[in-house]
Amino acid sequence: MGLVTGACFAASGHQVVCIDMDAAKIALLHQGKLPIYEPGLDRMIVRSVEEGRLDFSTEYAAGIGDAEVVFVTVGTPMAGQDGRTDLTYVLNAVADVAACMGDHAVIVIKSTVPVGTGDEIARKIRLLRSELDCAVVSNPEFLREGAAIADFMQPDRIVIGAEEAAARDVVVKLYRTMVGQDVPIVCTGRRTAELIKYAANAYLVAKISFINEMADLCESIEADVEDVALGIGLDHRIGSAFLKPGPGYGGSCFPKDTQALLVTAEAHGRHLRIVEAAATVNNARRHDMVRKIADACGGTVDGKMLAVLGLTFKPGTDDLRESPAVAIVHLLVAEGARIRAFDPAAMPRLGDLAGEVTLAETAYGCVQDADALVILTDWPEFAGLDLLRIRKSLRQPVVVDLRNVFAPKQVAEAGLFYTSIGRMPVRGSEARWSAAAE
Ligand code: UDX
Repeated sequence: MGLVTGACFAASGHQVVCIDMDAAKIALLHQGKLPIYEPGLDRMIVRSVEEGRLDFSTEYAAGIGDAEVVFVTVGTPMAGQDGRTDLTYVLNAVADVAACMGDHAVIVIKSTVPVGTGDEIARKIRLLRSELDCAVVSNPEFLREGAAIADFMQPDRIVIGAEEAAARDVVVKLYRTMVGQDVPIVCTGRRTAELIKYAANAYLVAKISFINEMADLCESIEADVEDVALGIGLDHRIGSAFLKPGPGYGGSCFPKDTQALLVTAEAHGRHLRIVEAAATVNNARRHDMVRKIADACGGTVDGKMLAVLGLTFKPGTDDLRESPAVAIVHLLVAEGARIRAFDPAAMPRLGDLAGEVTLAETAYGCVQDADALVILTDWPEFAGLDLLRIRKSLRQPVVVDLRNVFAPKQVAEAGLFYTSIGRMPVRGSEARWSAAAE
């Protein structure tokens, strides 16, 4: 989020310094390389650096002293299993910023922080530098990984939560240099802005869990969830986005932010039943998916070699955080499966997962002599795979597609047995496991 914010404001003509304590990251950026995978970001950064508008530093003093606006974009991980948010990074960053910031600067909190954190930060700065005239503004971010630049430059809306009109106007003016008048800017109080971020994520999460439950029902009543999603999504009151069924949501935001919202609500004596149900459905889903895979493999995955395509929590990123694919792989291994995996972007980042799976260099290499193919992330290139070639490579012609990458008819025509999400297989291509071929 920090890099995207810096790069986009620099591209809009502003002078930007991105600060990070991690010297290795800053060194990488100075070489024109990115520590993350985000389409289009490298070109944007290189251009702004060449044109002298963007720089990187590990020194707070280097960028903060003269800054009119300071964006805080550091991580806010979960503090423990109970869903509380760890604010250490934000509070430390704010203390370091406060130590060297000039008068009249505006601190903009972009990190996702529980409601009331902006008030806490303002108090902290007053304690540290009582002489300073400085405002704290909440400006939550709605970037999706993989589409971050477009989300930043052409957002559906911008939310600015401020307690002081002058600070609010500074941030509104700054954004208007980047986005046209057609982009709504929602100006509100600081606490409300903080809640908008959590409410948006909770709503999207509820949509995903809702369609996943509909998918389960479709499988029992022989209906098609893709058509259900289309049929309800065309109602403009509902909208078609975030109605894609799958193995459940993951990533660095949705699971963490829903838990944090539940914790905030509980702390204020409120029990958010809809949000809680959405999270419960999602947590159960990975186990349901393992059952589904086992069913397609004759009732158990024990001793079977499964080819897994896709490990990231969604396509277009190398991020494995809270990835349903990774959780499912761990569960499959615990049930005795051997896994050979391929992912177009995540391979260098596998960490401890690398010890549990064998890696393949290509999708076709992954399926070679595997007992079944399991698709866990909907990378667009998987849709273009040659199904006949896959059938010839597999030991058993079984495909479990947890992202509905293929059309049931297409898979049946290739002679494969097919299990997907919320759709009936074409007659004759229902999952069938041959014990004799094992
Ligand atoms: C999300 C929010 O969209 C973004 O506004 C916020 O700032 C950060 O969190 P991101 O985590 O990048 O962004 O991913 P997103 O595209 O929202 O997908 C999150 C998860 O939901 C993925 O695991 C994805 O596969 C899943 N998902 C999404 C579905 O299962 N079905 C859908 O219809 C949409």
